[in-house]
Amino acid sequence: MREPLFHSLGYLGVTSPRAADWPTFAVDVFGMEVVPRDDGTQLMRWDDRAFRLAVHPGEEDRIAYVGWEAPHGTRFAEIVSELERSGVQVESEPAEVARARMVRELASFEDPFGIRHELFTGAVEFDRTFRGARSTTAFRTGPQGLGHAVLVIPDLDVGMAFYEGVLGLRCTDIVKHGDELGTMCFLRCNTRHHSIALWEMPGELLGLQHMMVESADVDEVGRAYDVTLRSDWELSATLGRHVGDEQMSFYTRSPSGFDVELGCDSIDIDDAQWTMRLIDRTAGARNEVWGHQFQPLGPQSSLRPVRTVA
Ligand SMILES: [Fe+2]
Repeated sequence: MREPLFHSLGYLGVTSPRAADWPTFAVDVFGMEVVPRDDGTQLMRWDDRAFRLAVHPGEEDRIAYVGWEAPHGTRFAEIVSELERSGVQVESEPAEVARARMVRELASFEDPFGIRHELFTGAVEFDRTFRGARSTTAFRTGPQGLGHAVLVIPDLDVGMAFYEGVLGLRCTDIVKHGDELGTMCFLRCNTRHHSIALWEMPGELLGLQHMMVESADVDEVGRAYDVTLRSDWELSATLGRHVGDEQMSFYTRSPSGFDVELGCDSIDIDDAQWTMRLIDRTAGARNEVWGHQFQPLGPQSSLRPVRTVA
C-alpha cells in the first residue's frame, strides 16, 4: 500500500463577507478561541496550534486553501518532489506567506478543480495555551489533525484520481446516496476515518460543504447543541450517529455558508484491518444509526456552480 503524502489535515482557510460574525459563532457554540487580526481575519483555535481555521474578509464565501501537514521527520523537499513526479505543479511560497500561516516551510498546488492546497511543516504551537470558552472544552486533534472537511466537486472520478491516486489518501468508505444527493468518498491519511471527503452532488457544484471538529467529551457536544437550539444560529442537522465513522454529532450553518459539524466518539481506522466499504443507500443500506435529520435550509453560499468558478 502506498504511503499517504501527509501527516494530517492541518488547517483550512476561507474568505467570507461575514468574517466578523465568527467570534460569537465559534466561541458561543463550540467553545473555540478566536484571535482577530488587523486585516479583519479571524483565526479559530481549538488546540495549541496558532490556528486551525482562518476566515478572511472577502466578497464571497469561498474555500481559500486546504493546509496539509508534511509527515514528521520527512524532508519537506521529498514530498514536494514526489508531488512533482506525479505531474503536480508545486509553487514554493515566500517566507512572508509562511509567516502568515505561522509555519516554517510552505508550498502550494491546485487540485484539478482549482482548489488551492498547501503543504507545510513546522507549524507554530503555543504549548498548553488553548483555553476553551467552557472549562470542559477539549478537542481531539494531534495525530488526527483538525477534524475533517467535505469538498463538493463536479467529478468524482477526476477527484479520486487526484486525491487517492496522486496524494495517496486512502479510501475508507464510499456512500452512494442516489440521484438526488450523489456519491461521496471518504479519504484518510491517518487513523481518522476521513480527513477529507469528496462529494459529487448533482448540479456541478464546487466548494466547502462542511467541516467537522471532534470534541473529546460527549457532554460538550450536548452543551453546544443546547446553545445552538437556544440561539439564532441555524441547525442544519439534528443530533445523530453516522454509520461510517460512527460519530455522534450535529450540524450548524456557519456565518460563511458551510456547515460546522461537532461530534465525538468516532472510530479509529487500522490500515492493516480495514477493507473499504460501499454503503449503497440506493440498495437500502443505512447511512445513519439514528438521528441526523437534515433541516430544510437554503442553498449554501459556500458552494457555487463550476462554470462561474474559473
Ligand atoms: Fe462530517
